[in-house]
Amino acid sequence: RTVDWDVSAAEKGGHPHFMFKEILEQPEALHKTISPRIRDGRVVMDDLQLDPDYVKNISRIFIIACGSSYHVGMVAKYTFERLLRRPTEVVLASEFRYSDPLVDETTLAIVISQSGETLDTMAAMREAQRRGAKALAVVNVIGSSIARDADHVIYTWAGPEIAVATTKAYSTQLMLMNLLGLYMGDMLGTIDPQEYTDIVAAVEKIPAQMESCLADKAEIQYYASRYFNHNSIFFIGRNLDYALGMEGSLKLKEISYIHSEAYASGELKHGTISLIEPGTLVVALGTYEPLFDKAMSNMVEVKSRGAEVLALTTELCRDKMEKNADATICIPVTHPVLQPSLGIIPLQLFSYYVALQRGCDIDKPRNLAKSVTVE
Ligand code: G6P
Repeated sequence: RTVDWDVSAAEKGGHPHFMFKEILEQPEALHKTISPRIRDGRVVMDDLQLDPDYVKNISRIFIIACGSSYHVGMVAKYTFERLLRRPTEVVLASEFRYSDPLVDETTLAIVISQSGETLDTMAAMREAQRRGAKALAVVNVIGSSIARDADHVIYTWAGPEIAVATTKAYSTQLMLMNLLGLYMGDMLGTIDPQEYTDIVAAVEKIPAQMESCLADKAEIQYYASRYFNHNSIFFIGRNLDYALGMEGSLKLKEISYIHSEAYASGELKHGTISLIEPGTLVVALGTYEPLFDKAMSNMVEVKSRGAEVLALTTELCRDKMEKNADATICIPVTHPVLQPSLGIIPLQLFSYYVALQRGCDIDKPRNLAKSVTVE
């Protein structure tokens, strides 16, 4: 038994769980995603042979995925429409495959999958190809089924991910989608040159900024010890913060078994606000600076109904946030389109520490599998 323990501890790099090890590995994993793809301030994709004429002819983009990979797609939808000015839809693979989708030769289907083996994603990709689309896969596992059958594949290079709840695969997928958006937007001439330069410069700083978010883990552990007993937790946010909240909420429910929902803040009034009672925990995401004031007013609304508010924001808006929230987590500022790459760190840590407090089986949560190869 002692020997077993030693082996497994060694595999986890001395950490108690793979999930924790993988959370900490993110700056290094991102470095591997980014560094081969930026040269002299420009995004290069040596592993992607996209014909510029083909790209110019794309009329519509579908991003297709499941689970956390779908949440990456939610962020990327905003970024792609901003940088490419092409209609971009993000669809769950299990819905896309049976939706009689409007796909033709001018459609690009981007499929995102850590494992490259998710059955629904695979089937949705084949359906898009059958209807004439080209499939570009964003995959982590080299040589996986989706990677083999796609027309184009780019790898996240996150290394093996063992914990069922994804962390470093999510982060590297997110970054690779940003790089792809920059690369294609550059080809199309749809990105403002100054914005292009600003985003590339900001991308290069992300791994170091992520290190500083990880260095604040004791603070997150403290919040987890304060809130781990809640039965229901809501995440609210707008735009990129809404997409980020979807992933924060999924992480929490996957490993801690706490009921949790993410809502677009503007939708609160259409239902969820009726669930807010004195003491209900609301994680209010206000990292997306262009909509910060809106985020703030939604936060005040739930607060006035008695919610306990744990806010996530950046150094830009910290002072305003601290005046209204019960507790505030602050992350460094980056370009607005990259802010979710930093925002996800405290949310992953929060889920991890909450699950730890509740004594859950963090690396192997009940009923879940790392790779879903059945329908
Ligand atoms: C499972 C995993 C999730 C993952 C999803 C999609 O549900 O537990 O972490 O996001 O499958 O997997 P994929 O390998 O296609 O990204």
